[in-house]
Amino acid sequence: MCDAPRCVLEARGMRPTPEERAALAARRARIMEAMGGGVMLLAAAPEQVRTADLTYPYRQDSDFDHATGFPEPGAVAVLSPGAAQPYVLFVRPRDPERAIWLGPRAGVEGAVDDYGADAAHPLDDLEKALPPLLAKAPEVFLHLAREDALAARLLAIVRRVHAGRPRAGSGPTAIRDAGEILHELRLRKAPDELGRMRAAIGIACDAHREAMRTARPGMAEHEIEALINYTFRRRGAAGPAYDSIVATGANATVLHYTANDCTLAPDQLLLIDAGAEHGGYCADVTRTFPTSARFTPAHRDLYQAVLAAQLSAIAAVRPGATLKAIHDLAIRVLVEAGLTLGLFQGDVDTVVAQEAYKRFYMHNTSHWLGRDVHDVGRYAIDGQPRPLEPGMVLTVEPGLYIPADAEGVPEAFRGTGIRIEDDVLVTETGHEVLSAAAPKQIEEIEQLRAQAR
Ligand code: GLY
Ligand code: MN
Ligand code: MN
Repeated sequence: MCDAPRCVLEARGMRPTPEERAALAARRARIMEAMGGGVMLLAAAPEQVRTADLTYPYRQDSDFDHATGFPEPGAVAVLSPGAAQPYVLFVRPRDPERAIWLGPRAGVEGAVDDYGADAAHPLDDLEKALPPLLAKAPEVFLHLAREDALAARLLAIVRRVHAGRPRAGSGPTAIRDAGEILHELRLRKAPDELGRMRAAIGIACDAHREAMRTARPGMAEHEIEALINYTFRRRGAAGPAYDSIVATGANATVLHYTANDCTLAPDQLLLIDAGAEHGGYCADVTRTFPTSARFTPAHRDLYQAVLAAQLSAIAAVRPGATLKAIHDLAIRVLVEAGLTLGLFQGDVDTVVAQEAYKRFYMHNTSHWLGRDVHDVGRYAIDGQPRPLEPGMVLTVEPGLYIPADAEGVPEAFRGTGIRIEDDVLVTETGHEVLSAAAPKQIEEIEQLRAQAR
């Protein structure tokens, strides 16, 4: 027999399975090994007010989720390598009254039984029960960038224990950034993480295919956005990993356009940058295709330039390569094609050296991808671009953005934004394009477009 709240939790699938619990325990072991000592304090993300007393859908802090899998706000995790109880959770206790309105909490009992904590306390006991756990820790790992109430509470407790050090004879003397440990670990994805990423990216690819089969002149951008977000939710994703960008014509020259309130006209390009979030991991995929059945000749030329740059950049992804080298390659191929098309004047070396390409390609080619869309992890080590390693996931997303009023370029190119973005896993021998199921070759796209009514 189980009590009602636990049954509801189970029905929602919120409790980790035995396999997930084992993966979380193994991950905590790796974190504690990397710490080598001290105590790490991690705070759950705060809830964010949307209107009056209603909040935005809750999204757990990525680092907290990575270490605990615990899905609720108002929680603190304490990791103490070598301690008798290395994993302690502080959580909000069960509350049958609130459960009627908001659903059940795991509570102190669930924190131990379902989430594998060695011990758990009510969050209200933090000021009393946390100091003894810090008493012997010379170093405390905290999130230095967090400024919310719970993070401030943790810092105040650390200071109080530190202030008592002269009398106690031990206690923290150094605060270090928890991200230094966690973000390096998060940068290299373990097999269970890659499984979740594949699921998120697979759903995103389905949504892009669905959009290519459906969009037609006369529809509004938000209708396509609705189709994409519907596909995400229908397939069980949490929703979009970021506001879906559905940008037709010149709207696509605004890099983070999200108004999505214009109507599709014939013979334009439609840029869709949309990725699902699933199991705490994000997809980030962009495709650009014609609003009519075929690309216009001018759009085809521009598209082929971006595609050539993207394919060359992807081909360069392998262990030892750097994001800078991949970016430089994408720029070179883009500039070579752009010179032929009359987008740039002069020769490749001059356009690259003078950064004249930035007029039409102004962002980086890659970023890390994982629990966060722009995922954590250092891009440089000792001032040098870091070499790629197996297990890292990055985007490759060159583009061309030609404003409607751009001077000195062929008329047919103006008011056009093109980006092609794939999610790429670094493997032992090279790479794997995780988002390959979203068509990007002109023939494949035009085949799907022919099906749109
Ligand atoms: N969708 C955000 C980005 O591509 O970085
Ligand atoms: Mn991206
Ligand atoms: Mn994107």
